[in-house]
Amino acid sequence: MDTGQAIPRHQTAIARRHLSKPISLAVADGILAATSSLFDYGCGRGGDVARLRAMGYTAHGWDPGHNPNAERHAADVVNLGYVINVIEDPIERAQTLASAWRLARQVLVVAARPDWEARTVTGHRHGDGIITRRGTFQKFYAQEELRNWINLQLGTDCIAAAPGIFYIFRQETHAQTFLASRTRHRPAPMYRPRTRQALYDAHREDMDALAAFITSRGRLPDSDEVPGTAGRLLRVFPSLKQAAATLRDVIGSQDWDKDLERARQQAEQDLLAYLALAAFRGRPRASDLPKGIALDVRTLFGSYRAACSKADELLHAIADQKALNNACSASSVGKLTADSLYVHAAAIQALDPLLRVYEGCARALTGTVAECTVIKFSRLMTKVSYLSYPDFDSAPHPALATSLRANLRKLDVKYTDFRRSTNPPVLHRKETFVPLDYPGRDKFVRLTKQEERAGLLDEAAPIGTHAGWEQRLQDRGYRLAGHRLVRITTTTSSTGFQ
Ligand SMILES: C[S@@+](CC[C@H](N)C(=O)[O-])C[C@H]1O[C@@H](n2cnc3c(N)ncnc32)[C@H](O)[C@@H]1O
Repeated sequence: MDTGQAIPRHQTAIARRHLSKPISLAVADGILAATSSLFDYGCGRGGDVARLRAMGYTAHGWDPGHNPNAERHAADVVNLGYVINVIEDPIERAQTLASAWRLARQVLVVAARPDWEARTVTGHRHGDGIITRRGTFQKFYAQEELRNWINLQLGTDCIAAAPGIFYIFRQETHAQTFLASRTRHRPAPMYRPRTRQALYDAHREDMDALAAFITSRGRLPDSDEVPGTAGRLLRVFPSLKQAAATLRDVIGSQDWDKDLERARQQAEQDLLAYLALAAFRGRPRASDLPKGIALDVRTLFGSYRAACSKADELLHAIADQKALNNACSASSVGKLTADSLYVHAAAIQALDPLLRVYEGCARALTGTVAECTVIKFSRLMTKVSYLSYPDFDSAPHPALATSLRANLRKLDVKYTDFRRSTNPPVLHRKETFVPLDYPGRDKFVRLTKQEERAGLLDEAAPIGTHAGWEQRLQDRGYRLAGHRLVRITTTTSSTGFQ
């Protein structure tokens, strides 16, 4: 390779105005906790390090082009963000990954540019990548290619955090804790007790924290799972069980029991989804389970064996397209079409566990797709698509911006970008995608009723895309004003639709 170091790699570093995607994801996923230290390996202009320090983190970085004299040292979390894709020499690329991994005490975060971005970059081929017009090198990775390469180089089993971003955990228990948290339901608002009792009021923050734990995990915490809270409550109550009994009194036994049962069921489903998915990486032995998960298993299923056998039943069922199709047809949330079930991301926890495991398998390929608004489950093929409608809430008929489709049979990921399309697919009947308590759902329902009465939704054929829908509105003499259908009058003024 004669181009060698003549390639100005340092020029690939941009001046960042916000945290980079892998770093903000690590913060959001709890990988980078407030007490963790971070080392940014190949930190470029140092934007992430500066921002993290301003947020109170201990952060350092090194970059051969921008900060070559900094010391390279170990940290809890090491970030190798968009570095490997700028290195044209595959041997040096692998060495760089290995060097960054050596410094990671807990987690290495690796990010590289995904293959669908290649379309936006012009240049000529060089080795396994391209030399761009600016003379820099870029290697674009397919999701599975990046996963397999990291696993091969490090002899580990990395976890997809998002498209183009992977986590590699030093300890298997940390990996398991992360995976379990990813399938775990995050309870919506916490309890708001109606009657205030002195005991509750005096320890409100800790009582709320206890209620939040119980309603998310469906069980009482062990004291060391909520150390501060438990320490304080145990000075007042003989046990956490007694504190929970007080909560029950304050909240009202009927509400509490009902919500606890719901929380238990949700926690059971979460755990089953986690254990089913864990089978792909090789389930941990019971003795290797993180303590919190071991407690979940014991409380909810009695034994690890019982939990695993239930999870195996689920796994068995996702290999069965007919069972998947049945689960789609029977789903209480989402919009069912002839070939797919569409569900808003806010409703995913309300899905049948089978579909949640199915979606979890897709997510194992893609990682979290942060911009996803609607998840599409194919009823006919083993495919799950993450669809992004950035204007879902505000636009009456939002347009599809991007789609990331995971093919569970081929184990590949395909990205389609509609943002420059003049005729993107659009949604109708938005209320059918969302859960009943979704903000603004009533408004969606009202609009659909107006559109039905106006006969606009009678024949679906041409209205699935922006142009067809606009044409239909125009042909029938209507326009939309926000979520309101308005008749176009011959004069410039318009009247509300009745
Ligand atoms: C696209 S930038 C990414 C910078 C930063 N991580 C960010 O996300 O903003 C790639 C950086 O990798 C650095 N780099 C190139 N070769 C490297 C190597 N062998 N080890 C570490 N960093 C390297 C370059 O100097 C450049 O600053």
